[in-house]
Amino acid sequence: MTASFPALRLRRTRVAPWSRRMVAETVLTPADLIWPLFVTEGEGVEEPIVTLPGVSRWSVDGIAARAREARDLGIPCIALFPNTPQHLRTPDGREALNPDNLICRAIRAIKDAAPEIGVLTDVALDPYTEHGHDGLIDAAGYVLNDVTSAILVEQALVQAEAGADIIAPSDMMDGRVGAIRAALEAGGHPNVQIMAYAAKYASAFYGPFRDAVGSSGRLKGDKRGYQMDHANAEEALREVALDLAEGADTVMVKPGLPYLDIIRRVKDRFEVPVFAYQVSGEYAMIEAAAAAGMGDRDALAMETLLAFRRAGCSGVLTYFAPLAARLLAG
Ligand code: PBG
Repeated sequence: MTASFPALRLRRTRVAPWSRRMVAETVLTPADLIWPLFVTEGEGVEEPIVTLPGVSRWSVDGIAARAREARDLGIPCIALFPNTPQHLRTPDGREALNPDNLICRAIRAIKDAAPEIGVLTDVALDPYTEHGHDGLIDAAGYVLNDVTSAILVEQALVQAEAGADIIAPSDMMDGRVGAIRAALEAGGHPNVQIMAYAAKYASAFYGPFRDAVGSSGRLKGDKRGYQMDHANAEEALREVALDLAEGADTVMVKPGLPYLDIIRRVKDRFEVPVFAYQVSGEYAMIEAAAAAGMGDRDALAMETLLAFRRAGCSGVLTYFAPLAARLLAG
């Protein structure tokens, strides 16, 4: 039997801050944050990204400094993305397989600077291809699945050899999680995790990221032939089921806030660790609103991050990671 008014006054537990804290159903801690960082060539380089206010590309030494910062802030994991020099971008994205590419050098620098930090690396070819697609294309512009998947396996192995802790395939090719898992096992990397970008939508919210990795001007067409249709939720559950069956340790939903319904359904259905990527466009919208005097950036950021936890996320990839960790530290 539920009480009714006035025996039941739901405001009672809301009146005092101590009580609100006591009954809070969800908490956010720095351990729930994964910090995406962009790597660029050079030494002592910091390049602000115009469409991602407050976010920069760093040369490898700067990435090492960010890793120490993450450790000091209690952020457990860093995700790396390269701005590959333009002259190294080819139709087949072969720079992705170079054991001395930006990502591999950044991984080693992080492991040197702050070995207690986890390193997540993106598996996809878009920062390495001339055409900006995540895989190899044929004459008609179709992204070839199986050929691409075979290269992604090599890319994952190169990253694991360099010291990556989590391989995160973001390419949406069919069958690549199983192929990568098998190669990691055979290649002596049984404890390297796979976080599958399982439900990744063909989103308009990725624009600033493509500026950050230098692929936006290059991209021919769109990614709707491999990334998911915004209209679909059941299909997301099938994607997740498949990636888990192929050996994904954790799964991701991306973008974040427009897809909280997907996060909740995935969590309820599979009871596995679910992560969200609060993507570049989501971050940029909050920054733009705050800069225009239309909202309080810190409050907006923290509310969105808690929403991911409430929806069922174990953690969130977010450009707000250092800000949020600082705010949480008080
Ligand atoms: C690459 C990749 C993208 C993002 C993460 N990995 C862009 C894309 O698919 O075009 C987007 C992240 C962001 O917008 O912050 N496959």
